[in-house]
Amino acid sequence: MAKTATQSDAATRTSAEGSAASLRNKPRAISAHQQLHSPSSPQPHAPLSGDIVGSRAALQQPAFRKGRMSSTPVAVVTGSNKGIGLAIVRALCKKFTGDVYLTARDIQRGKEAVAKLQEEGLKPQFHQLDITDLQSIQTLRDFLKEKYGGLNVLVNNAGIAFKVADTTPFAIQAEVTLRTNFFATRDICRELLPLMKPNGRVVNVSSMCGASALSQCSQDLQQKFRSETITEEELVKLMEKFVEDTKKGVHEKEGWPSTAYGVSKTGLTVLSRIQARQLNETRKGDGILLNACCPGWVRTDMAGPRAPKSPDEGAETPVYLALLPPGADGPHGQYVSEKKVQKW
Ligand SMILES: NC(=O)c1ccc[n+]([C@@H]2O[C@H](COP(=O)([O-])OP(=O)(O)OC[C@H]3O[C@@H](n4cnc5c(N)ncnc54)[C@H](OP(=O)(O)O)[C@@H]3O)[C@@H](O)[C@H]2O)c1
Repeated sequence: MAKTATQSDAATRTSAEGSAASLRNKPRAISAHQQLHSPSSPQPHAPLSGDIVGSRAALQQPAFRKGRMSSTPVAVVTGSNKGIGLAIVRALCKKFTGDVYLTARDIQRGKEAVAKLQEEGLKPQFHQLDITDLQSIQTLRDFLKEKYGGLNVLVNNAGIAFKVADTTPFAIQAEVTLRTNFFATRDICRELLPLMKPNGRVVNVSSMCGASALSQCSQDLQQKFRSETITEEELVKLMEKFVEDTKKGVHEKEGWPSTAYGVSKTGLTVLSRIQARQLNETRKGDGILLNACCPGWVRTDMAGPRAPKSPDEGAETPVYLALLPPGADGPHGQYVSEKKVQKW
């Protein structure tokens, strides 16, 4: 496991893809004509009243009463135009009873990915989504509320990684990597978790590099990241501090490891543990299960061609968590690898 973690960490930082992805990763506004929906989907409407859209609330929504709201279950996968995300959509199209949304920040790349799966006889839906663009997230949120009255499965897969050979200053790498992998994933959770329907499933695709980065943190930081009572605000402050410390050139002195990707995934796993606790407090009895996972070391643009797993194999653990059967009481709030709960 430790050997694989090291290999994977190195692999995620060896090709130029990570830096290219990060340069494309600037927040940008999405104009109405850029927003693509499935041909049968309505255009987004103003948000419906109420933040939590459960099934009963959904039945009371104007769109449902007018016969426009679908009772079909719905799954969304972020960053799914290629790599593990595309493989997760492929598996969900085969195994999930309902509509499966392939999402991409770039509409053209998204359309090409949809066409690829259509050639395989599958029928994914499409919606534009750049997780670093709040307007894009909110457009998807409003679309899901309006068309489905909520969401059944959310897989937060989108992520970036700089490569070892990338000469971008470490402080910039830290800011850009944390912006997508931690802060933008937190943004989408903030907007979409209130939409989760009873028995909903949320999967945050983290990494073994997060666990490995945790073990390289100071004892003080390790204690904070393993705490059962750390709050989301405290975690956000720590992630902001990491970025600030890299800018001041003091991150090692302050107990951080020199891996922006690793710290971003430590943050994502800790965020998942916090979100699961929040669900226990606010949605007790709704049977929603939320976990972080590692897909393993997977042959993608991010990790390179030497990785042992195919994207379909990398999708197995995320899909297992996305399809935990109704009524299951766990795993919840865990970090899962190879379909097994790992000690954090
Ligand atoms: N591959 C591995 O060995 C491995 C190991 C552990 C964890 N992971 C994690 O698994 C997830 C998928 O990785 P992968 O290997 O499949 O990487 P990948 O092939 O580079 O794919 C990453 C996907 O995320 C998308 N993305 C990046 N920034 C985005 C944004 N702001 N909004 C929306 N989409 C965005 C990319 O879109 P573009 O095409 O537009 O760039 C792409 O579709 C990541 O979270 C990664 O950290 C991977």
